[in-house]
Amino acid sequence: MSYLTGKAMLAGITGWPVTHSRSPRLHGYWLEKHGVDGAYVPLPIAPGNYPDAIKGLVYAGFRGCNVTAPHKLTAFEVCDTVDEIAHKAGAVNTMVFDDGRVRGTNTDGLGWLQNLRSYGCDPNAGPALVLGAGGAARAVIAVLQHIGVKVLVANRTRETAEGLAKMLTGLTVIDWDRRNDVIADSALLVNTTSLGMTGNPPLAVSLEKAPSNMTVSDIVYTPLETALLADARARGLRPVEGLGMLLHQAVIGHNAWFGTNPVVDEALRAFVLAA
Ligand code: ATR
Repeated sequence: MSYLTGKAMLAGITGWPVTHSRSPRLHGYWLEKHGVDGAYVPLPIAPGNYPDAIKGLVYAGFRGCNVTAPHKLTAFEVCDTVDEIAHKAGAVNTMVFDDGRVRGTNTDGLGWLQNLRSYGCDPNAGPALVLGAGGAARAVIAVLQHIGVKVLVANRTRETAEGLAKMLTGLTVIDWDRRNDVIADSALLVNTTSLGMTGNPPLAVSLEKAPSNMTVSDIVYTPLETALLADARARGLRPVEGLGMLLHQAVIGHNAWFGTNPVVDEALRAFVLAA
């Protein structure tokens, strides 16, 4: 355990609530490992107070912050500048404070992609089928399209997926009922819904028609091996767990605030899971 000095660099996770967040533990691990004079703290901010609270953090000399539910859209509005990836994702999850200015980006999609690649999977192997059309889906689809992948989306509520397709040109919407058939023509399947998470109903999807080399990615990480991923593993497909998305998205912000280049490895994974 190292101690802070008066020059300590500060960042944190803004959300409401944030008691469940693993980010302080995750960033704390890297700070300790690299001997950085800095702290990453939980910042519970009630929704109506968000713009004032961010101003307060800027005035208090913070280097920046992460953003979790329910603030990702408000954060987008609060920023002075927002980069292209955040525009595409329609939300901000990482802010960097620079000379009193607030810069916003979104590292969810890149973190997801980085995690997939860390498992040796090629996201460009063929078309991708994304299940769900919420904020996480948008971030994942935006990054897949950015690297030239043809993306299809299926959502229980078709209109929501169609709304997404209006913002992300080239996105193909298919009926939720057709998801099991479309899997046959996909190289990558991504669950971006919260189905399969502990306490939620399971995701009703059949991998029966999946091509033998399909990558199956789940953004749910409690449990680490969801029923979907267990099924993929049993069939000899390539399962990619969801915790790595959280770990990899954190690298970009950490580097911007604290100036080190942290790595995602098994020790970090075990430490974050042990909480
Ligand atoms: P996030 O922003 O974290 O992605 P969200 O916006 O609440 O979360 O999105 C949740 C996704 O899970 C949605 O695509 C939702 O589908 P609807 O648009 O039809 O609500 C999907 N989802 C939630 N419960 C579901 C269920 N029982 N069956 C199918 N999809 C479900």
